[in-house]
Amino acid sequence: MSKPPEILLMDSLMPQQTRDLHQLDKAHFIHPFTDFSVFKEKGCEVITRSAGIHVEDSKGNRYIDGLGGLWCVNVGHGRREIGDAMAAQASKMAYYSPFNNLTNEPATLLAAKLAALAPAHLQHVFYSCGGSVANDTAIRLVHYYFNQKGLPRKKKIIARKSGYHGTTYLAASLTGTASGNWGFDTVEGLVTHISEANCYRRPAGLSEAQYADFLVDEFKTTVEKLGADRVAAFIAEPIMGAGGVLVAPEGYHRRIQEICRANDILYISDEVVTGFGRLGHYFASEAVFNIQPDIINIAKGLTSGYSPLGATLISDAIYDVISRPQCKEGVLSTGYTYSGHPVSCAAALANLAIMERENLCRHVRETAPYFREQLQNRLYAHEIVGDIRGSHFMIGMENVADRDSKALFPAEARVGQRIAEECQKRGFLIRPLKHINIMSPPLIWTREVIDTVVAILDESIAAVVDSLKKEGFIQ
Ligand SMILES: Cc1ncc(COP(=O)(O)O)c(C=O)c1O
Repeated sequence: MSKPPEILLMDSLMPQQTRDLHQLDKAHFIHPFTDFSVFKEKGCEVITRSAGIHVEDSKGNRYIDGLGGLWCVNVGHGRREIGDAMAAQASKMAYYSPFNNLTNEPATLLAAKLAALAPAHLQHVFYSCGGSVANDTAIRLVHYYFNQKGLPRKKKIIARKSGYHGTTYLAASLTGTASGNWGFDTVEGLVTHISEANCYRRPAGLSEAQYADFLVDEFKTTVEKLGADRVAAFIAEPIMGAGGVLVAPEGYHRRIQEICRANDILYISDEVVTGFGRLGHYFASEAVFNIQPDIINIAKGLTSGYSPLGATLISDAIYDVISRPQCKEGVLSTGYTYSGHPVSCAAALANLAIMERENLCRHVRETAPYFREQLQNRLYAHEIVGDIRGSHFMIGMENVADRDSKALFPAEARVGQRIAEECQKRGFLIRPLKHINIMSPPLIWTREVIDTVVAILDESIAAVVDSLKKEGFIQ
């Protein structure tokens, strides 16, 4: 029997049979955040399989995943029950519109579940497809909220340098990382970026407490300069991720929130990375930092990356305002075809069931001190390790040429990249971010896994120090 045309087309595109996957990828897939000078020559490594804490590439190399995919595979790889839940939902009802007064079972159940897990005042969920769009949605809703309240001038957003909030137009405008928007435009006049909270590189002579005063004062002054009647919201990650895993000084978030409250400014917490166990709790804002944000944005760990899903959780107070009809037949005109996608929501429910059953938040809380202790005991022995920071399963290691002055190696030393390459040779994937290395592992790492990766890091950094000496970067 001859094959139907669509199957013939699929066959002609089947890479293993007809063409080299590597070449096809180079020819057709524009990857996010690609360095084309390297990509056009080398292309990509193809990750073909994953299970538990491991991923495997097309050459059969197996690695311990130190990145959790991209800060997201919280319950670990290859969880059959998430795949089964998605397959069951796809077979039962893969998609129907969520607009107006239509819903689907997984989206409703998940919204209720999120409301139960979130801080008590956040009982309403607006779904999107990922972190950038969750942040976009938050800004749109904040503007709508102030319009509804009759305060249309209150529109400006205060964000932070080195903050990462995504790359859709609005999210990119919130993002403040140095290289985040190279060559791209952002929305003009909307966002003001204040200093990031970088305790390691705080101004010389300031104690951590004085540094907190300095940052809080800067925020206060910025509100005064912009005018409280113009400022709608402040957005921050509880711990900055892609900006270098930066932990704010004690009390910082709380004090900023107090100023927000006093000035009718909404506090948006971007928990796209910190949510779902990475800091030992489903939500870190209240449990770890003692703040009650008006909005929390989530994505990534919500489905452990098994399916795209993001959400904006909003307070009852905001809901009360935005749910008032603006006029007869006036609707809340924002949302996406895939808001509350049934298959993604089924993935999230299965993911949360695993987290609960295996008590992964508790596991992270119990394992994190050991992780931290091992990293500090072993890695500070290397002269280039300047700072090991972060919290729980969100760790950054900053490498320096001189510990006293905190001077960096020149960019051509590629120190973060070298460490990542040495780790990769030894079967461990860690993320380089210029001179920093980042770990955001699956939450299922045990003490044994920690021993293995710390030993690999130890050996890899020693190898990098040797090569830096040989090349004259270290005298
Ligand atoms: C804190 C934070 N917010 C938002 C985003 C953007 O999420 P997405 O890539 O799903 O759009 C990221 C992505 O890394 C992130 O780290």
